[in-house]
Amino acid sequence: MTDPRQGGIAILDYGSQYTQLIARRVREQGVYAEVLPHNVTSDRLNQHQPRGVILSGGPNSIYEVDAPQLPAYLIADALPLLGICYGMQAITHALGGRVAAGTSREYGAARISVEVENPLFHGMHHHLNVWMSHGDRIEQPPAGFIGLASSHGSPFAAMGDVEKRRYGVQFHPEVVHTPDGAQLLRNFLFEVCGCKPNWSPESFIESAVESIRARVGSDRVLLALSGGVDSAVASALLHRAIGDQLTCVFVNTGMLRKGEPEQVVRVFRDEQGITLRAVDATEGFLSALAGITEPERKREIIGKLFIDVFSDEARQLSAEGVRFLAQGTIYPDVIESGAGSKTAKTIKKHHNVGGLPPDLTFELIEPLRDLFKDEVRAVGTALGLPDSIVWRQPFPGPGLAVRCLGEITWERLETLRAADAIFTEALDKAGLLRYGTSQAFVVLLPVRSVGVMGDNRTYEEVVALRAVTTDDFMTADWARLPFDLLADVSSRIVNEVRGVNRVTYDITSKPPGTIEWE
Ligand code: XMP
Repeated sequence: MTDPRQGGIAILDYGSQYTQLIARRVREQGVYAEVLPHNVTSDRLNQHQPRGVILSGGPNSIYEVDAPQLPAYLIADALPLLGICYGMQAITHALGGRVAAGTSREYGAARISVEVENPLFHGMHHHLNVWMSHGDRIEQPPAGFIGLASSHGSPFAAMGDVEKRRYGVQFHPEVVHTPDGAQLLRNFLFEVCGCKPNWSPESFIESAVESIRARVGSDRVLLALSGGVDSAVASALLHRAIGDQLTCVFVNTGMLRKGEPEQVVRVFRDEQGITLRAVDATEGFLSALAGITEPERKREIIGKLFIDVFSDEARQLSAEGVRFLAQGTIYPDVIESGAGSKTAKTIKKHHNVGGLPPDLTFELIEPLRDLFKDEVRAVGTALGLPDSIVWRQPFPGPGLAVRCLGEITWERLETLRAADAIFTEALDKAGLLRYGTSQAFVVLLPVRSVGVMGDNRTYEEVVALRAVTTDDFMTADWARLPFDLLADVSSRIVNEVRGVNRVTYDITSKPPGTIEWE
């Protein structure tokens, strides 16, 4: 079996916000794409023998001091190139053409006219709507290049050296606002580079199974199962590869949603036949959190205790000779950015398994580190995992602890679980769990309110419903849920969940809010 990563596309990252999107668009065509820093070495670039290179856009101006350039080895190389926006300017500058700074900015929708028949625009209309976002533009293409298309603001909206298979486009074919962008990318992949569409969930699984077996041999692997998509798919993949040599550990922190611990045991142990150690650590977590209301303290306590509990299990397994620790790391976590790492302020401490005590040394195995989230899901489905796991919405590491505002008690957690289950069920029934919301849940607030039920005054807890839509969870908008659905959920929660007499709906976007309340 050949590695399906061979013969794909290398994408050089010049710092555009769309770089990952280019990789996803290429992979959607069944061609492997990997994102590499713009100054990557030739050896690394050629590791998977790409058939072509795409140069991303970026925030710089090509004549600035320290502006990132086209790697020198690509000038001499015969690999096909496609420069997008800044990438086009980098090609132009490196090959002796001329870029003009800031003379004619174009942002947003534009229309281009294709002037010359050429492989990049093969089969496409002569007038195309595209998305532009640039300050600089090409004034004079390098020798050997001709203009292929123009727009109002860019005499060279596209250029190409057809013989050498080098192209540049001033617009962004990877964004949805360029409706024919997928066709242009297909032309580059298949007509210009001669790629084969061999990147699929099945080919990935086959080759991953092979390489996991080769690496693990007859040794054993430990994996922390959280119930989330990534660790679930990693475990199913490892199980396919090495069967009983895999042991999963699932820690029930007591902070999980209704029915979740039971579902994990049912799906992974009973249905998938995976060796699973389920540890119920609820009491330990509840007593460690008693009286704690400060959000960051909650996170610290849970993160630390989780490591302690998991380490105990891992220590036992290590003593039994388990050599590897598997993690569900995915591609967006590992992409090295060409623009250099940005330093961001910590808004919330996220916790994931990591930071095991120094006496515990495992070799790390990360079978999903080449996959985007949608690919992880497709692989999960191909491995036979149910939709309820594969299409699960994200759930924070500290779990319900950060949705149970104020003090955490078993009783309040049960109230929250009951309300959350009603909301989730209603969204699921309306088809809004998989499509229409990116994340939806209930928050139990640290206030009480007065109400009336029958003839009696009540003074009880308040919940907030939170539902958001987002692509990347960095920004989000509140979901415009149907009023009737909200009405139903509200009435069911107040009627069915003991101790709650008021339901509110959170209409805050992110920013300024965050998705979770703590
Ligand atoms: P915020 O609340 O920061 O959340 O807008 C963004 C996304 O991250 C999730 N989240 C976490 N995920 N560990 C995680 O693995 C955490 O500690 C954590 N805190 C928030 C949140 O659910 C949302 O999807």
